[in-house]
Amino acid sequence: MYFICSDCKKELEELSRPLGLCKCGKPLEVHYLWENQARSIDINDNEKTLWRYKTVLPEVNNFISLGEGHTPLIPIGENLFLKDETVNPTGSFKDRGMALAITMAKVQGVQQICLPSAGNAGISASAYCKEADIECHVFLPETIPDEFKKETEKFDAKLTLAGQTISDAAKEMLKNKEDNWFDISTLKEPFRVEGKKTLGYEIAEQLGWKFPDVIIYETGGGTGLIGMWKAFLEMKSLGWVKGKLPRMVAAQSDGCAPVVKAFQNLEKTTKFWDNSSTIALGLNVPGPLGGSWILDVLYNSNGIALSVPESELSDLTTMFNELTNLNASAEAGVVWGAYYSLINRNWIHPKESVVLFATGIERCKFK
Ligand SMILES: Cc1ncc(COP(=O)(O)O)c(C=O)c1O
Ligand SMILES: [Zn+2]
Repeated sequence: MYFICSDCKKELEELSRPLGLCKCGKPLEVHYLWENQARSIDINDNEKTLWRYKTVLPEVNNFISLGEGHTPLIPIGENLFLKDETVNPTGSFKDRGMALAITMAKVQGVQQICLPSAGNAGISASAYCKEADIECHVFLPETIPDEFKKETEKFDAKLTLAGQTISDAAKEMLKNKEDNWFDISTLKEPFRVEGKKTLGYEIAEQLGWKFPDVIIYETGGGTGLIGMWKAFLEMKSLGWVKGKLPRMVAAQSDGCAPVVKAFQNLEKTTKFWDNSSTIALGLNVPGPLGGSWILDVLYNSNGIALSVPESELSDLTTMFNELTNLNASAEAGVVWGAYYSLINRNWIHPKESVVLFATGIERCKFK
């Protein structure tokens, strides 16, 4: 395993542990010596968690698992599939990233971690920290519904509330952070992406080791989009999947759409979105650290970014849940709206295979 900066592209040799950001302040990307060496498909078929892909993950003797991953890919229309991430141990796809981040934190001797969260990541981090016997400090916006607070505290995390968005909570965290707290904020350490990339491996396996034509992903901090694209490139380099790479779509609410705005203006990075507001709480990320990385994925995959009107989100989510019989949160409504919009514009053709995501359960009815 080695590390390349996602931005300045330097390969980093002398890194202090635990691993954080590149010296330039941007996220590190994990690479492996096996990349670009064709070999046959090698997974652990008996393992019904994301650790079935451990041959493409960092090598560890003991991993921390609550049973994350291995979620259903449900056909919901002709060539249309839904990846149901609501069935993960704490109710969201954040568990994939946390399984890897907390496993690697433990390996690196971490005893205390901290993170800001829009809600789900905090709950997930708390659960995995409890399992790993690591102290967890979670910073949430004051606007967070009580259900999220209760779930986070259930796993004994130390909770602080501050500001209106995850960015405000992050500022408060940096003010309070003690030297021995390890910061596992989105993309501030390299392993959450490695966990999220298993989404990509799973989708390809579930489609019979094929890529879908289009991935439509509800984008906040962007780890899922970045992780899946990384997985697709890895699988192609290994020869596990042949054919065209998927076009990646970032879907946001027009109440907080920094990625969409940057994409439309052909920018290289995102600008801070002032006064953001959306019922899709996980997408209320006005200044994603990985903004330029997300845009790279969209440009390199011939993808697109588009927003859905916040005013339609509640109805879209209800429609989505009625169709799928799920109890998914409003982030799924964003993806559902984006799918329709892309079909109507003929950006997606009826013969193309498309994967949508229900990234988390609805913990409270849109407050
Ligand atoms: C339910 C849900 N969907 C989507 C997202 C956005 O995820 P990402 O940071 O990978 O863009 C989040 C993040 O908080 C979330 O909780
Ligand atoms: Zn760098």
